[in-house]
Amino acid sequence: MSNSQLENQRTPAIVILDFGSQYSELIARRIREIEVYSLVLSYDTPADDLRKLAPKGILLSGGPGSVYEQGAPLSDPEIWNLNIPVLGICYGMQVMVHQLGGSVTPAMGKAEYGKAPLVVDNPTTLLTNVESGSTMWMSHGDSVRNLPLGFIRLAHTSNTAEAAIALHNSHFYGVQFHPEVVHSTHGMVMLRNFVHTICSCQPDWTTKTFINEAITKVRNQVGTKKVLLALSGGVDSSTLAFLLQKAIGNQLTCMFIDQGFMRKGEPEFLMEFFDKKFKINVQYINARKRFVSKLEGVIDPEEKRKIIGTEFIRVFEEESIRLGPFDYLAQGTLYPDVIESSGTNIDPKTGERIAVKIKSHHNVGGLPKDLQFKLVEPLRRLFKDEVRKVGRSLGLPEEIVQRHPFPGPGLAIRILGEVTDEKLNCLRDADLIVREEITRAGLYHDIWQAFAVLLPVRSVGVMGDKRTYAWPIVIRCVSSEDGMTADWSRLPSSLLETMSNRIVNEVDGVNRVVLDITSKPPGTIEWE
Ligand code: XMP
Repeated sequence: MSNSQLENQRTPAIVILDFGSQYSELIARRIREIEVYSLVLSYDTPADDLRKLAPKGILLSGGPGSVYEQGAPLSDPEIWNLNIPVLGICYGMQVMVHQLGGSVTPAMGKAEYGKAPLVVDNPTTLLTNVESGSTMWMSHGDSVRNLPLGFIRLAHTSNTAEAAIALHNSHFYGVQFHPEVVHSTHGMVMLRNFVHTICSCQPDWTTKTFINEAITKVRNQVGTKKVLLALSGGVDSSTLAFLLQKAIGNQLTCMFIDQGFMRKGEPEFLMEFFDKKFKINVQYINARKRFVSKLEGVIDPEEKRKIIGTEFIRVFEEESIRLGPFDYLAQGTLYPDVIESSGTNIDPKTGERIAVKIKSHHNVGGLPKDLQFKLVEPLRRLFKDEVRKVGRSLGLPEEIVQRHPFPGPGLAIRILGEVTDEKLNCLRDADLIVREEITRAGLYHDIWQAFAVLLPVRSVGVMGDKRTYAWPIVIRCVSSEDGMTADWSRLPSSLLETMSNRIVNEVDGVNRVVLDITSKPPGTIEWE
């Protein structure tokens, strides 16, 4: 296969038109889990663009609107003439019904939220192997009242007459429930029926094909030029470093700026692992003194973040000149960043949004917009769980692949008030104990984040015969799916006891340990 063919071949097999559902991304991930490449586009993507993109199937997502209200989001009516199979989910099904001549009305006391057993009336096509009585997740206040001409019912529930419908000749399908959520026990069976059987998509979106394609693309893009990557030790930049090393070897330079806010042992581990073991060219920049002195006397959390961000850019610029020149900057931009970026222009060849946005991610301090680099962003088509698979497949250790999220400004925002070397040392020791004990208890992978926070107040305690006057440490452990909402982890009391004992005994400057039992909302995960 020629390179230009490779460049152009990865058009999405399935396009998801997003009507504002909280689950649109999840639908895309589910379809990729069954190894079919899918993309999320705006609900009003013109049918002409879709024709050029030529996906094998279109999925209409759910959404908060009501089709009969003025200004409700609707798809381009021409999509029904594209001769492409369509599956409408929840609001997406209502759009289908509405645009094809049926009617949708408020559910009139029959709104359905939560789990409902599905009664399958027609166990073929979309519902092949979907068991009657299996649970499907419902969330709708509107219902289909009259089906458009030619449609038939495939399934119902006790509250919803038209829970699944089909116009078989056109390959149009609609379901009132959400097959993509885990509570829908046969949801994946149904999605497979649509994607693999009805749309005839081949399962070819695998980690291996992604890596091969990405390597070819990077080589074509970069040629013999030099590439700079800011390595943070997180899974995105680490995976990127491994991928680029494979693609362009010593044309890659990684810069690791040690701000002094990393956890205990992390800078040493990073250098040992990337530089020594895997021979990836990593330049270690020790900027610890610079950062901590800039934070002298600074208490306000936003100001702290700004100072750290600005200083990061300064160091980055200085060092890139010293180590350079470089033509390209590699960034670990992921697909959710691309979906969220503004602008609806899509490239009709690849389906990607055209608007190129420098990742304003606080992790790298938000790089300046006027830096004279072209961007290399090979991960921009991936979700986080896909990055983990790619990283693992390239040989990243589980320590990095499964690492809990860690904020770019690091421990600096986990020390409330002024950041000093003394407090940093103290927090580093306490943080290590929390992580060690969570790991020892076998809970590391069940927890979204587990860390320590240092409060800048002192209280009285007694150790031996001596009165102490020292800082408290807060233990913060949460469970979460995506960091947007979180619940505090109910840890065994014996584990809390061990952590508390060890922190007070082993960490100088601490005489009290408290536990944060706030969910998000109303709290946040970090304290700042
Ligand atoms: P909050 O505290 O807002 O945090 O509930 C939500 C998630 O975001 C992480 N976080 C950051 N991640 N750079 C990051 O990459 C940052 O500056 C940053 N600040 C917060 C936080 O750890 C949690 O997972």
